[in-house]
Amino acid sequence: MKQRIEELLQEIQELKAQKLQDIEEYRIKLLGKKGSITKLFEDFREVLPEQKRELGQKLNTLKNLASSKLEELKEKVGESILQNGPKSDFTKPGDKFDLGTRHPISVTREEIISIFSKFGYAVAEGPEIEDDWHVFGALNFPPEHPARDMQDTFFISQSDNPVLLRTHTSSVQVRAMERMPLPIRIVCPGRVFRNEAISARAHCIFHQVEGLYIDKNVSFADLKQAVLLFAKEMFGEQTKIRMRPSYFPFTEPSAEVDVSCNICGGKGCNICKGTGWLEIMGCGMVDPNVLEASGIDPKVYSGFAFGMGVERIAMLKWQVKDLRLYFENDVRFLREFETVI
Ligand code: DAH
Repeated sequence: MKQRIEELLQEIQELKAQKLQDIEEYRIKLLGKKGSITKLFEDFREVLPEQKRELGQKLNTLKNLASSKLEELKEKVGESILQNGPKSDFTKPGDKFDLGTRHPISVTREEIISIFSKFGYAVAEGPEIEDDWHVFGALNFPPEHPARDMQDTFFISQSDNPVLLRTHTSSVQVRAMERMPLPIRIVCPGRVFRNEAISARAHCIFHQVEGLYIDKNVSFADLKQAVLLFAKEMFGEQTKIRMRPSYFPFTEPSAEVDVSCNICGGKGCNICKGTGWLEIMGCGMVDPNVLEASGIDPKVYSGFAFGMGVERIAMLKWQVKDLRLYFENDVRFLREFETVI
């Protein structure tokens, strides 16, 4: 056994390797289950007691040498791979990777904002988790009035002033009126939440852009002008608008705005259900009660407000008939906008 150990010590010292595979082979040959060193350890059991001490030490030295030699070879091979391995070829074309695109809802929201910023509107934002006062109370929704049922609300906590998820971005106009110096001319983009069954036409989360203009002598004619200019920028120069009387607690008078159908040009098609018109927003003159609730004197100031759904505008712009597609983020759907955006 002594001699066998000496031979192996010699052999191991002379080992050379070109590739990692050689080293693995050595490892198996020496230290593997049937390796020569493993074999020696098995034979060691039979060794006479008086020889155990000497041979045991030698065997351990052999095993340690084998392990450190294999490690040393691994390092050498690794270095030579780094030094002599394949060099980068800078003339080769780079790897192709897919660039993401902006979501159609973001694009639409930004387009709405950029149109109004050309008219001098600033952007204001407010919290998604709101209180009853900013979403309803200050907007002239009386406490037990059925008008509160107009919007199905997600409540977070009940108290004198319940905490809830805002159902519309009109809450931001209240915050702006409380804080901003007059005159105010803002658009307020943001997410809103309603307890509604999800369908092709409704979702429990969607996006709105609210607009507010407050100054001395603001009239309904100013509102009409702002909406018309917006509609032309958004849907094309030939676009016409019409206003239908409506009701919102926070505006008086209130109106809903239709634009002439951008698909059939007003002749009537399946998108506008044969009417030639498409509804795009609600609007009106800010109710004097709303101004007062935020500390603005309605005898000196007047203003108009409007609010639109971003998904609605995006659906009309791209004739997407199912709102849910905007939320599913299926890349096959999103890719269709790559060329448009
Ligand atoms: N807040 C309304 C809604 O969510 C939209 C709206 C209508 C906003 C009329 C306004 C407005 O500012 O004047 O349905």
